[in-house]
Amino acid sequence: MRMRMLLLLTLASCGGKQSPPPEKIELRRAGPNELLGVADFNSIGDRATRSRALFGVIARVLVHPRCINCHPNGDVPHQRVMEPHDPPVVRGPADNGVVGMECTSCHQDRNQVLTRVPGAPKWHLAPIEMAWVGKSVSYICNQIKDPKRNGGKTLAQLVEHNGHDELVAWGWAPGADREPAPGTQAQFGALTAAWVDTGAECPEESR
Ligand code: HEC
Ligand code: HEC
Repeated sequence: MRMRMLLLLTLASCGGKQSPPPEKIELRRAGPNELLGVADFNSIGDRATRSRALFGVIARVLVHPRCINCHPNGDVPHQRVMEPHDPPVVRGPADNGVVGMECTSCHQDRNQVLTRVPGAPKWHLAPIEMAWVGKSVSYICNQIKDPKRNGGKTLAQLVEHNGHDELVAWGWAPGADREPAPGTQAQFGALTAAWVDTGAECPEESR
């Protein structure tokens, strides 16, 4: 049985004519709250391979609690590390709560120090088609570049969004004792630009 598995794996990795043999990638190790920079990927010669590797780092930010808490796959925002929002609130018809319980009845345009309520301009939930909770990195990658599911954004607008959007910016200045997203927003924007420049390739679904 074990032999057969090995044989199948070998066949699968040699037989495919669509992709070149995987390049051996050796990257520097990033610290826990650090991101690899664009230059760290220059050693990867193959453009598509470099693009997929870049997305791996971008995904580290996307699935960080500061980001994914607001991109849930349901009606309730998350807080801390993926706990349901307390007090209970729901997305409502326009992703900004329901009458009397709008997001902005508590969340202001900046963090509130005394009450711990986080804030940034136009605080509201990412629409359901932009949900990342429970999705694979490969799925999220294809979703965020699909204009039907990313709010009609071109790849250039996606680069701009990641580098400069104010809700995204909050991820690095979350207030209270919240852990910020890794790296800096400038680095995240540059990584997104490099990913787009190398063809915006997505990692394959792991089987
Ligand atoms: C009744 C007040 C109130 C309403 C309404 C409210 N929130 Fe909150 N929200 C809070 C408080 C308080 C916290 C902070 C909890 C803590 O960390 O102690 C919070 C935290 C969050 C966080 C967590 C940030 C993080 O990463 O830890 C997100 C995301 C969030 N709210 C989104 C929303 C959205 C979206 C809406 C509207 C659908 C909304 N909230 C409505 C009070 C509210
Ligand atoms: C307070 C809620 C909130 C937080 C926190 C938040 N987002 Fe979003 N995000 C949104 C909303 C709302 C949209 C849709 C609005 C738009 O497209 O401009 C969105 C859209 C996006 C999009 C484009 C659409 C897509 O394909 O999903 C990206 C990329 C994105 N966010 C990245 C991030 C990153 C990275 C972070 C953390 C550093 C983050 N977001 C944190 C609410 C949030």
